[in-house]
Amino acid sequence: EEQAGLERFNALIAEDSRIEPRDWMPEAYRKTLTRQISQHAHSEIIGMQPEANWITRAPSLKRKAILIAKVQDEAGHGLYLYSAAETLGTPREVLNEQLLSGKAKYSSIFNYPALSWADMGAIGWLVDGAAIANQVPLCRASYGPYGRAMVRICKEESFHQRQGFEILLELAHGTEAQKRMAQDAINRFYEPALMMFGPPDGDSPNSQQSMEWKIKRFSNDELRQRFVGMIAEQVKVLGLTLPDPELRFDEEAGRWVHKDLDWDEFKAVIAGNGPCNAQRLERRREAHENGAWVREAAAAYAAKKAQKAQV
Ligand code: 3HC
Repeated sequence: EEQAGLERFNALIAEDSRIEPRDWMPEAYRKTLTRQISQHAHSEIIGMQPEANWITRAPSLKRKAILIAKVQDEAGHGLYLYSAAETLGTPREVLNEQLLSGKAKYSSIFNYPALSWADMGAIGWLVDGAAIANQVPLCRASYGPYGRAMVRICKEESFHQRQGFEILLELAHGTEAQKRMAQDAINRFYEPALMMFGPPDGDSPNSQQSMEWKIKRFSNDELRQRFVGMIAEQVKVLGLTLPDPELRFDEEAGRWVHKDLDWDEFKAVIAGNGPCNAQRLERRREAHENGAWVREAAAAYAAKKAQKAQV
């Protein structure tokens, strides 16, 4: 049974087909997908906070409406991804407990503060831009529910990235103070955004297996390269600069050269010692407690409905 299952699994992966929840799969495949998809979901949910803090301070009704829509999208992405993770056998209550207890990881980027309105632009352009670069290949992940969730999410991410770029464009063409604010936001988010793609390939314990199983289609460094190439061009349209004097395209090597990233900072952030880790978890725990009555009411309603159906 196990041997036949493994052969069928390997054949599906080899022919670039999809593994579905009911298919036999190696426990390690199930485990690494539960790890990655749940952390991805946690990232979406925690990622709501930096932007939510600016909804009441948006400079116009139009910007407020756009930001509300974006934060609402992130919540939906999170719920979508928890559903995909649950198909692998771990209930979302367990995944949520892993987040609330501080055990689970979520994207490092959300442990940095959003200090000005221009940060809403930098987050949209750089963070959602990086998320898109990472998520488009994930649409072809070998695990069906994950790949399909990505297709829907990527569609909404492009709106997120464009609205962020537009905020920066407006500020860059505004007063000197607005232009400085936009440049300051880019300066603060550039390196943390590059680190979103994960550690350098030589220091990425999960990559090799993830690539063999066609979960990860490109390595961390390959996607980082692609992203740097994109923003190096886009920043010219803004008339602003990236805070990286070493950034250049090395024709010979055929690759972008950028400044060394601070991987000690990265390790500290994902170990829970970033600028905002405690605040983000505190806020999440509080929101979870404040929402208990909604969950109880929904459960009571469902129980009553089920009871009625039996009568
Ligand atoms: N933040 C936090 N942890 C990170 C990280 C990051 N940016 N990059 C890597 N790590 C962690 C990994 O999770 C792993 O730890 P673990 O084994 O305990 O899970 C460790 O560092 C080593 O990294 P690896 O490269 O070996 O791990 P992966 O093969 O999993 O690659 C990844 C890391 C590229 C982030 C991959 O997990 C991935 O593609 N995840 C899905 C994408 C994702 O999570 N995106 C979040 C973007 S933010 C977002 O979506 C919100 C946006 O819409 C605004």
